[in-house]
Order: sequence, then structure tokens, then C-alpha cells
Amino acid sequence: MTDTYPPISDQLDDLESAQEEGRRKMEWAAQHMPILEVVREEFVDDQPFEGERIAMAMHVEAKTAILVETLADGGAEVAVTGCNPLSTHDDVSAALDTHENITCYAKRGVDDEEYYAAIEAVIAHEPTITVDDGMDLVAAIHEDYPELIDGIVGGAEETTTGVHRLRAMDDDGALEYPVFAVNDTPMKRLFDNVHGTGESSLASIAMTTNLSWAGKNVVVAGFGYCGKGVARKATGQNANVIVTEVEPRRALEAHMEGYDVMPMSEAAEVGDVFLTTTGNRDVIVEEHFERMQDGVLLANAGHFDIEIDLEALDGLAVDRYEARDGVEAYEMADGRRLNVIAEGRLVNLAAPVSLGHPVEVMDQSFGIQAVCVRELVESAEPRSANASGDEPRASDEYGPGVHDVPDDLDKEIAEIKLAAEGVEFDSLTDTQREYMGSWDHGT
Ligand code: NAI
Repeated sequence: MTDTYPPISDQLDDLESAQEEGRRKMEWAAQHMPILEVVREEFVDDQPFEGERIAMAMHVEAKTAILVETLADGGAEVAVTGCNPLSTHDDVSAALDTHENITCYAKRGVDDEEYYAAIEAVIAHEPTITVDDGMDLVAAIHEDYPELIDGIVGGAEETTTGVHRLRAMDDDGALEYPVFAVNDTPMKRLFDNVHGTGESSLASIAMTTNLSWAGKNVVVAGFGYCGKGVARKATGQNANVIVTEVEPRRALEAHMEGYDVMPMSEAAEVGDVFLTTTGNRDVIVEEHFERMQDGVLLANAGHFDIEIDLEALDGLAVDRYEARDGVEAYEMADGRRLNVIAEGRLVNLAAPVSLGHPVEVMDQSFGIQAVCVRELVESAEPRSANASGDEPRASDEYGPGVHDVPDDLDKEIAEIKLAAEGVEFDSLTDTQREYMGSWDHGT
């Protein structure tokens, strides 16, 4: 394995001003991340990650950078790259790379070859822990560097698609170290996927197009956590929301929430804006493009850029041009223009103006990431006990496979946040606790 792909500092021309701007963005984010502030203070004092090497593939922007620094300040050597070619902020990447414990390879706009070369460069640091958003590191290690697996304590996965892929891998018996499904915790999913995706996707589309939501027919594909957030926030902007689904209970839920529910083939004819949030592929395809009105906006908030079939759209187009920064117009033979935002990549991160989720939301998600990494290290064999690397370091408590994040870790983060917000809440009395745990108090 060779570490030939250069860190961002060796790739930028005006490095100093990039570092300065990146640091400015990070300072703003840090001011609004009280959870990571508390966790970082604990890590600085305890140095839980001394001797650990953490590999990360995440959206490298200001909020993620605070997580990366928090882990590095806890004593880890951290190597980090992007998890999407369009979501990296080069200035933040450059600022991170100045930390003595951090090497950052993320660069915006890399092609496929460079993207995977950066992943390999991160893996070349021979990680003992992986932190993923979309499972690219876990996949690359299992496929190409299985010899590293015994030295890996475990991993943490940020997003729904990553957790889906990991569970599929686990079902096939192919996942060889423990990974926490950070995405599935209430503190992540009920806030990040719902509020974060809802607010930031709509904001990114509005900023990219300079168009209003009011009175528009907004088609939301998928009524999962992200779709619910998008639908609710679009309603709040006075749009008329139409939901498409494949899961009967979710379709019914959308109906009972008061949204119009219909197949995509019908929605295609009436929608003004289409936003996919399914984590699935081929959600909007040729037959739908053929029915759409002139001027529609097409965007995706799901993890991969496969929800809108751009190849088919390109096949139908007689012309294609950049209508605005971040908007590609595909002109059909009959003159209709279908506008794709951010190349069909997740719109809240990949459009030129996108900033990702609000800071407060990511503070919660990354707070969970941080305590999950701490949990993995605390539960694993110490590095010194296994210096030869012959024995797996992962503990019996968390054997190979996907693991739910322990509830007390999730509650720990909620309590830090509530304290930071100055919100007090009740706790169970002893009698209530006993009652809730009993079965013999009938009528
Ligand atoms: P979820 O599993 O809660 O929801 C997905 C929904 O899509 C389900 O209800 C499913 O039945 C539906 N669906 C699947 N195929 C469909 C089809 N062909 N047509 C209509 N509906 C379909 O997942 P969640 O948490 O909402 O995540 C969705 C995607 O968003 C994932 O790829 C996830 O990784 C990504 N994500 C993106 C974020 C962002 O910042 N943009 C943040 C968090 C998650």
C-alpha cells in the first residue's frame, strides 16, 4: 500500500488564505456546537484515543471539522477525506490539515480516480478505527486491505445508506468488525434526517435558483425521515406537497398528514419541483421526464446520485447548458427545459451555495459519533496488549457486525444539549420507576 495521493496542503495554490478562511468558518461552527465543546473538554483531559489512528470519510466542511479536531484533541492521529466529490470545502480541509494530529486529503471536485486515491491514502495510515458517511472506508478495507481488519477496534457509520449497506454486508456474513449505526439513534435520525435535511435542502434549492416555494407543487419522493422533514418544511413555505412512496404504511402516513399521495408517473405531470429522498435508485426515470412540464426543478437529497436517472435524461436532451451556477438545463426536443440542481448529488451539500445541515443539528449527530468512538476504544483490547496485531482488538461485547448505539450514550448527548439550552425536565420518581418496571399492577 502506498501513500502517494497528496494531502490538501500540497494541492492548493493560495494555501495561507484558504487556511485562514477555513479556520474562520470552523470558529463560527464551534460557537454553536455546545455538545462537542463539552465532549472535547473531556477528551482533552482524558486523552482516550492516545495511540489510536482514526480514518474518516465524511463531508469535509466546518461542522465535520470540529468533530475531526475533537477526536484529534483526544489524542488520536486522524486521516480524513471526503465522502462525496462535491461536498468538500477546500478552505476547511486546508485548515484541518494544519493540526499536528490530522492529515486531510479532501478536495472539492475530484474525479472518481482521485476520490478513491484519497480513500486509499487515508487507509494507508493503517487505521484502528473508521468513521464513515456512506461506508466507503469499510468497503475499501474489506475488499482491498483485509490484512488491516484484525487491528481495527471498530467503526461508526453516519447515514441511512451506509447503515443499509452495512446491514446487507452483515447479513452476508461479510462484515468483519463492529460498526455502530449512528444514523439509527433518536438523537441523530429525529433531528439530522428530519430537520437538517428538510431545512438545508430547501434552503439550498432556494438559494441556487432564487425561486420561491410559495404556491409550487413540490413532489417529495420517499416519506422516510428525510422526506418527512422536507415535506413539513415545504408546507411551512406555503408549497403544495405531493408524496410518492413504495411502502404502504409510509404512504398512508403521508395521506393522513394531509399530503397528496400518488405514483411518480402522475406526480411527474403536475410537479414544479422534484426532490428525491429515498436512498434507492431510478426513482425518476425516462417515462417521468417525458411527462414533465417546462421549467421543472429536479434535485436529490438521498446519499448517492442515482435517484434521478441523468443518463436517460441526457439521452432525451437535444441540448444541455448551465442555466445558473449549480443548475444544468436539459432541453427536450419539444422545447421543454428540465433543470437539474447540483448534478443530482445530495443537494444540501453539493450545490455551490450549499452549507449542509444547520450547525446545531450536526452538533448532535457528531456528539454521538464522538462518544461512539470513545465506547469502541473503551470496550476494546488495549493496543499494548496486542502489539503484534495477531489477535483482533475488537471486544467480545461488540463482535463483528452492525451494532445499535447504546441508549445511555444517546441520552448522554441529549442531556448535554438540554443543559446547554437551559431546558430543565422531569425525572421518574422511585415509585414511577418501579411501576413502569412491574407487571402485576392490573385494574
Ligand atoms: P428512510 O429509510 O427513513 O426513508 C426512505 C423512504 O423512501 C422509505 O419510506 C422508502 O419506502 C421510500 N422509498 C424507497 N424507494 C422508493 C421509491 N422508488 N419511490 C418512493 N419512495 C421510495 O431513509 P432516510 O433516513 O429518510 O434517508 C433517505 C436517504 O437520505 C438515504 O440515502 C440517506 O443516506 C440520505 N440522507 C441524506 C441526508 C442529507 O443530508 N441529504 C441526511 C440523512 C440521510
